[in-house]
Amino acid sequence: MSGNPLGNQSGSASENTQGSTSGNLPESRPENGQAANARPAQGRRTAPGNRSAHQKMPPARLVRIVERLRESVFRLHQKMMPPPVTMLELITAGMVSQAIQVTATLGIADVLADGPRTPEEIAERVGAHPDGVNRLLRALASHGVFRADRSGRFALTPLASTLRSDAETPMRSIAMFTNAPEQREHWSYLLDAVRTGEPVMEKVRGVDVWTFFEKNEELAGVFNNAMTDFSNFTLAPVTAAYDFSPVTSVVDVGGGQGAMLAAILARAPRAKGVVFDLSSAVAGAEDTLRAAGLADRGSVEAGSFLEQVPEGGDCYLLKNVIHNWPDREVALILRNIRRAIAPGGRLLIVELVIPEGNGPHPGKLSDLDMLLLVGGRERTEAECRTLLTQAGFHLDRVVPTASPLSVLEASPV
Ligand SMILES: C[S@@+](CC[C@H](N)C(=O)[O-])C[C@H]1O[C@@H](n2cnc3c(N)ncnc32)[C@H](O)[C@@H]1O
Repeated sequence: MSGNPLGNQSGSASENTQGSTSGNLPESRPENGQAANARPAQGRRTAPGNRSAHQKMPPARLVRIVERLRESVFRLHQKMMPPPVTMLELITAGMVSQAIQVTATLGIADVLADGPRTPEEIAERVGAHPDGVNRLLRALASHGVFRADRSGRFALTPLASTLRSDAETPMRSIAMFTNAPEQREHWSYLLDAVRTGEPVMEKVRGVDVWTFFEKNEELAGVFNNAMTDFSNFTLAPVTAAYDFSPVTSVVDVGGGQGAMLAAILARAPRAKGVVFDLSSAVAGAEDTLRAAGLADRGSVEAGSFLEQVPEGGDCYLLKNVIHNWPDREVALILRNIRRAIAPGGRLLIVELVIPEGNGPHPGKLSDLDMLLLVGGRERTEAECRTLLTQAGFHLDRVVPTASPLSVLEASPV
């Protein structure tokens, strides 16, 4: 979950049964009986009308060039610095994330929305200690988050502005959740996960991650908001990179709260679409489609993709779904789509495809989160190709986006 779109689904984990809002699909539970992706409803926020889906995106190619430049400078810096100095920076990197979490939890960026303030003014408004606030913001200002002026007042920078609650692409909940005390505790068991290759939740909490969230309302609220923000964060890059205009019938499998389908329908005026997800998630999707004025072209259907998916679509979408599952369940999901897809249709898998080589990529850390919490994994292109081939698909191309997500386009063979 650290930096990772683990899920934006709604509904309680224990509510992982699949009633059908359309009445077409039987009541059932996923094969392993686990609420592997469902999440509690507390704190659910409606997607902000696809506001972030309309953001201007730089071309994916330009983003990759800038990333490569950054990596070269980073490697050069590493070569020139004494290794212990660089290692110390890496060792203490978690402190920066924790400081951001505290700032986000206190809502300091909101307090600075009207302009710079002294630590005393900030502390009074957020209920903290002035010296503590000063030290917190000084530390973060050294990383470009906030900026101190000569009189000692702190101001927002573009990075700090992303922590505002009303930011165009808000990161506040993501910051709050990723380093929430409970999440940090989970990560403290990474050693166990690496030793065993198994997720640790049962051992640490006695229940799976979703049941744990369900029992912790406050954390669940933060998690739900973070997942909604993750999802919205990815809409604009995906819809900018992939041309959805030719599709006519979209099935968003595991489509969560429907934000992606709404974004696609907005770009494909002739298309109809359905969000297919657990019964606990589809109510949120109905709201999203209605709010976007798409209720006439977009519908919802409840069920388990481990059993079947709606038939006859010419475009099936799996966005941030397969990384939650081990290969065995992914094979099941893909085969169910293969059975349902119209001849000539396409399957789009949107994931953090892990690149070859030693370069940095968020998928490499998100993969540890998957290992630790749910037993899923982020995959390479080759791993995805193998799974697709085994399920009767051909991987036609991989479309990069301005975000770390890629779109894998596959067709039935
Ligand atoms: C990580 S979320 C991704 C949601 C959405 N595609 C997105 O990108 O924001 C995974 C989704 O899979 C759904 N899901 C989990 N198990 C499912 C099942 N057995 N059948 C259908 N959907 C399921 C969850 O409810 C959730 O909405």
